[in-house]
Amino acid sequence: MSERSQLQTGRTAAHDSAFLRACRREPVPHTPVWFMRQAGRSLPEYRKVREGTAMLESCMRPDLVTEITLQPVRRHNVDAAIFFSDIVVPLKAIGIDLDIKPGVGPVVAQPIRSRADLERLRPLDADDVKYVTEAIGMLTAELGATPLIGFAGAPFTLASYLVEGGPSRNHEHTKALMYGDPELWADLLDRLADITAAFLKVQIEAGASAVQLFDSWVGALAPADYRRSVMPASAKVFDAVADYGVPRIHFGVGTGELLGLMGEAGADVVGVDWRIPMDEAARRVGPGKALQGNLDPAVLFAGHEAVETKAREVLDAAAKLEGHVFNLGHGVLPTTDPDALTRLVAYVHEQTAR
Ligand code: CP3
Repeated sequence: MSERSQLQTGRTAAHDSAFLRACRREPVPHTPVWFMRQAGRSLPEYRKVREGTAMLESCMRPDLVTEITLQPVRRHNVDAAIFFSDIVVPLKAIGIDLDIKPGVGPVVAQPIRSRADLERLRPLDADDVKYVTEAIGMLTAELGATPLIGFAGAPFTLASYLVEGGPSRNHEHTKALMYGDPELWADLLDRLADITAAFLKVQIEAGASAVQLFDSWVGALAPADYRRSVMPASAKVFDAVADYGVPRIHFGVGTGELLGLMGEAGADVVGVDWRIPMDEAARRVGPGKALQGNLDPAVLFAGHEAVETKAREVLDAAAKLEGHVFNLGHGVLPTTDPDALTRLVAYVHEQTAR
């Protein structure tokens, strides 16, 4: 089979999955469920295969990526797989000196703060991330009708790591650049938008059935600043992949006040954290978009009865939505009991079976 027809076969197999139907706001057999960070440290089988291999090195090994991506699908019966990688992989691939430090996160050797620094952000070519194309080819063959979600970091969240040099509570260097040198900031975000768009295209062309743009830290901004200084770059990313027709999901933490704008930026599905109920999120996002969310990941530590009560609240608040993808309000916490996740998937499926 030619590469293209193989790809089309893969997408066709997943086309009628509950997850993709919900993203398209079509009727579903049950509410689909997946979890951000479903692959990772909460799983003993993940810790085992990752032993002795650094995080970024793992992301460049198609055999490991395939195994780790499949682990939560096998174990939890989730409705979608998320590609195992990291938001900083495309930056590493264009030669930025960075590492992912265990328990800390991405650390950048020389932060990007001046116009001269921008030159280090060259465009991403598909050949820079051949291991991604290879891994997705292997994965879609294994996944069959289970859709694969590709992802990338949004320009603001990537800029935050690059400008701060690592994780940050207050994003002061990032905001200093944004407020103090709007022109340089716009150019920085524009370059990142191109890199992010190229990274998403690689994943879609390799066979991903949907993509999620993680703007994890953009909740640190007021709506007017988001609209002026961030939205054009995120919109450029969504626009660049619009023609593929795969659902585009947009997620951030603490973004209650930004949900409408994040939808407007070009998402088909807006991700919601646990701080506002799904019906209120739907009101803020407006018609024509599906929503994803939003159980507090910490609820999974409270025992199954509490998990069911809180999951039921999410389902009730989402009952009138045009399309609902059940997820946590942020990633699975590393010390979560994996059995609590498996039971939660079964509960949502059983409660919503139509
Ligand atoms: O299952 C999945 O969700 C897919 C894999 C995935 C990872 N990172 C793997 C990973 C995804 C989607 C990401 C995205 C990501 N990476 C985001 C956006 C999502 C979010 O949580 O808001 C961000 C902000 C990052 C940057 C990053 N990378 C952080 C903050 C960390 C955690 C550092 C730590 O050790 O606590 C990483 C490392 C990372 N990325 C791990 C995993 C499984 C842990 C590495 C390990 O297992 O040693």
